[in-house]
Amino acid sequence: MSAPNKSFDPVEVTALQPEEVARARDEALAAIAAAGDLDELKRVRLEHAGDRSPLALANREIGALPPAAKADAGKRVGQARRAVSDALKERQAVLEAERDERVLVEESVDVTLSTGRAAYGARHPVTTIAERMADVFVAMGFEVAEGPEVEAEWFNFDALNFIPDHPARTMQDTFFVGSEETGVVLRTHTSPVQIRSLLSRPLPVYVVAPGRTYRTDELDATHAPVFHQLEGLAVDEGLTMADLRGGIDAFVAGMFGEGLKTRFRPSYFPFTEPSGEVDMQCFVCRGTSVERGAPPCRTCRSEGWIELGGCGMVNPRVLVACGIDPDRYSGWAFGLGIERTLMFRHDVRSFHDIVEGDVRFTLPFGTEI
Ligand code: PHE
Repeated sequence: MSAPNKSFDPVEVTALQPEEVARARDEALAAIAAAGDLDELKRVRLEHAGDRSPLALANREIGALPPAAKADAGKRVGQARRAVSDALKERQAVLEAERDERVLVEESVDVTLSTGRAAYGARHPVTTIAERMADVFVAMGFEVAEGPEVEAEWFNFDALNFIPDHPARTMQDTFFVGSEETGVVLRTHTSPVQIRSLLSRPLPVYVVAPGRTYRTDELDATHAPVFHQLEGLAVDEGLTMADLRGGIDAFVAGMFGEGLKTRFRPSYFPFTEPSGEVDMQCFVCRGTSVERGAPPCRTCRSEGWIELGGCGMVNPRVLVACGIDPDRYSGWAFGLGIERTLMFRHDVRSFHDIVEGDVRFTLPFGTEI
């Protein structure tokens, strides 16, 4: 039996020779220093500090050494491995810092740059206010009715009791489609929708009709050849002017708030009898601007009242033209200017702003869709 080989010389294990350990360490340190980025450092770590790296292999050899030699070899290999792992840690930190800095620069966003994203469109304020006006009546059970903008003269005038030589029928006010002989016009008001509704719907009829209308007016601050009206019509048994007044009052409360008075002034329309112009108390000064010494009101021009539109009790002749028994049924109707309402409700000074399509005008109304 031989004694343990006490004379084993560690230097003979090549991997553990001091020069070898130093070389492995120096190679590792050089590679670490040369690693240009984190990926490269990962490869270097595997090669010089991984399980199969020269220093790891050398470390494994230590176990086979005689006790006397273990300490010395262990110390050298341990120091070398520590130096390598320290260098790795340090290099890792440096490269991470570099990467973070680069990412900050490369991925930074200039929040002041324009996004190039198209702005959202929005409906025109005439459309949204028309819908709002109609909604007040829809809430009371009215239906929304429609009719064509290119209209037969019969619907626009005759059925509405305009006599054949009524001045409104001339080319001075009315756009004819083709010549005056065609009998086809661009509707001058939304009242032909009254006729179309009465001819096509079962009684009772409760409708509102917002829509585009045409007259041969020049565009100025308060007129336009194309504008919008909201027509209202109620035909039922037993309707009176009190119902008309109630409908108008509900509209004013719905659009401008509670507590504003309304008033009727006598007027004339061929299709209503009696006819009226309806005014509402100014919702800004509530009528106070008419008092002596009171500050002036821009909205009602210190008149205290704002004109809303025309109205009246449906002329029995209109009912007859639509085949309705005027002894059994009665009705009321009104016609309101939509742009007019938009103008005084929102302090719009000129029709030009409404028709020009400049988003600087429309945007303050919001992008409600
Ligand atoms: N159609 C009338 C106009 O354009 C308004 C109106 C409608 C009047 C309904 C009375 C009843 O001026």
